[in-house]
Amino acid sequence: MSIDLEKILRPVDMVLPEFPAKYMTLSNGQEMVVRQVNRDEIPDILPHVEKLMHVERDYYHIVAARVYAELLAYYTYRVQDEYVLAAQVNGEIVAVVNGRIVNPDIGMSFHTLSMRRGLRVGAHAFAAKMEYHIDILKQKEVLIVAESPIGFRRWMIEYKLEKRFHIPHELGGCPSWSLTKELFDKARNTLVVGRRPVPEKLLAKAHAAILPPTDPPKAPEDLLAATRSMLDNTGTSLIDMRRKLGGI
Ligand SMILES: CC(C)(COP(=O)(O)OP(=O)(O)OC[C@H]1O[C@@H](n2cnc3c(N)ncnc32)[C@H](O)[C@@H]1OP(=O)(O)O)[C@@H](O)C(=O)NCCC(=O)NCCS
Repeated sequence: MSIDLEKILRPVDMVLPEFPAKYMTLSNGQEMVVRQVNRDEIPDILPHVEKLMHVERDYYHIVAARVYAELLAYYTYRVQDEYVLAAQVNGEIVAVVNGRIVNPDIGMSFHTLSMRRGLRVGAHAFAAKMEYHIDILKQKEVLIVAESPIGFRRWMIEYKLEKRFHIPHELGGCPSWSLTKELFDKARNTLVVGRRPVPEKLLAKAHAAILPPTDPPKAPEDLLAATRSMLDNTGTSLIDMRRKLGGI
């Protein structure tokens, strides 16, 4: 009986082509691999996203909370036609991006979460996700929203996205923006980087294990600044929260 109910609860995903892994050299000289991750790998990513739920800066908290839910939904088959890509440097996870296929023509961009700052790893991972929608799935447009000013700068301004304000985005019903194939073509030579195939050793390292981020965004040192918004001037609840989390 419970098995039958699971069949009803679980949407049947479309069969989608896989994102062909690619790699690029970052500005610090390191090589980053972007590849699709499968369901079995989601538990290896969740703990690193969870820690970011408590980083207020740059809206990491709301984005991480939503990404966590989306990854869990993917893992437990509670979302339709989602895919997840991970960006890794020497196996270490540095960014995660995800989205969903609405219909053959339209893609829904969910999130981009960078776990190492200052190297445009998020920008590169976002470009890979757009490449997946436009080049691999041959979609006409991708609906996008930004939850942070940095996200707005990276997507709406850098790609010159078009307004689709009459379409509520799946992320909170916010007015959507669109990356069309034409806009993507214009950005191809500047914003979309990477080479294929990924050298065997590099790809094997990425597949071997999703290693924890070594320098993830952290909550600020200034407890008072962090706690003012929590109406907790002594910092007690924040200290307590950090203790429970094992320190972030
Ligand atoms: C938006 C995001 C994915 C962009 O990732 P990214 O391309 O790797 O870029 P970074 O976050 O490292 O850098 C963004 C800016 O902050 C600056 N920055 C660099 N190091 C930084 C640091 N340690 N802390 C804060 N800002 C830093 C960068 O110089 C950059 O400035 P620029 O836009 O003039 O180049 C990332 O900021 C992020 O994950 N933010 C939180 C979640 C979020 O908002 N996601 C997007 C939802 S729409």
